[in-house]
Amino acid sequence: MEEKEYLRELFSLPRYALASRAIDLLERSIGSQIYLRGIIEVSNICVKNCSYCGIRRDRKDIYRYLIPKQVVLSLSKRLFKSGYHSVVLQAGDRRDDYFIEYINELILGIKRFSRRQMRIVLSLGEQDRDVYKLWRDSGADRYLLRIETSNPSLYSFLHPEEGGSGFEKRRACLLTLRELGYQVGTGVMIGLPGQDIDCLVEDVLFFKHIGAHMIGMGPYIPTEGTPLYRYVDEYDKEQVIDWSLKMVAVCRLVLGDVNIASTTALDILEPGLRLEGFRYGANVLMPDFTPKEWIKDYEIYDGKPESSADYCLKSLKDRIAWNDPGDPKPYGSYSFISGDQ
Ligand code: 5AD
Repeated sequence: MEEKEYLRELFSLPRYALASRAIDLLERSIGSQIYLRGIIEVSNICVKNCSYCGIRRDRKDIYRYLIPKQVVLSLSKRLFKSGYHSVVLQAGDRRDDYFIEYINELILGIKRFSRRQMRIVLSLGEQDRDVYKLWRDSGADRYLLRIETSNPSLYSFLHPEEGGSGFEKRRACLLTLRELGYQVGTGVMIGLPGQDIDCLVEDVLFFKHIGAHMIGMGPYIPTEGTPLYRYVDEYDKEQVIDWSLKMVAVCRLVLGDVNIASTTALDILEPGLRLEGFRYGANVLMPDFTPKEWIKDYEIYDGKPESSADYCLKSLKDRIAWNDPGDPKPYGSYSFISGDQ
């Protein structure tokens, strides 16, 4: 059967059937352990103006911050000591020298105090190859960069300032990151205006063909004060819940042993849904450790809860892999470079 046809068929199954198949595969492949990554949202300054995002450049009503380096370093040290062996440094897109050096010093500092044991995951948007290389050479291990949607026309609709080339640019960044030896994570938003099942099918194939090691995706949350909010009346919450959970299961079934996160946005749609993600084949939990003082200004979407990971940690306590960096198992097994498609 053609692969797209097979994927469409998977999406048409009742989601509970997909869940049990996905869990079955997870347990037979990488096992039921859940890996942790502590997130620190080091800055909400952003040069981009994405139409869906609560920290887009044109939002003038939020306080813009950069957390002092020493604060990030001592927080990372505390995380490491308490069993988090992966830290995610996340921020808006910013390409100036000051920021590039700030990140570089954080990478060197974290590698130093952890004797290179702590994995560093960057989630800092589109950068030049030289910058990706500098950070990689300094010790960064992984990079998260969502493609947002694999549909080029939907992509340009969401990023009108980038013209027609935005999608290709984002895709090229992912390829560069792979080439530089990062473990690469990508993902999409689910429930965007105009998106349908065929888009989601293409998204899953995109993840496969790009050779993603990690997937971090979640529902789109309509956010007041952003241009895309004008489509809020078309938003079908029940459908977005259904699609979001199915995406996790279908990715597990199609991509095998990649790491898949159950993300915060699920809990915004419906409290409890993030925990549900782990019944559909997710195996990564990313609790947010941005200090209180700053977290309130990192509102990518409306209603971000402060500690929605806590109940997941409690409920899943027997499966949590403390002190484990949780590297993706078959490093590069889905690589387009190895011709595996
Ligand atoms: N709803 C859900 N996710 C969003 N993101 C940005 N805005 C929203 C929103 N309104 C996601 C994007 C981005 C990540 C940092 O946050 O996928 O890559």
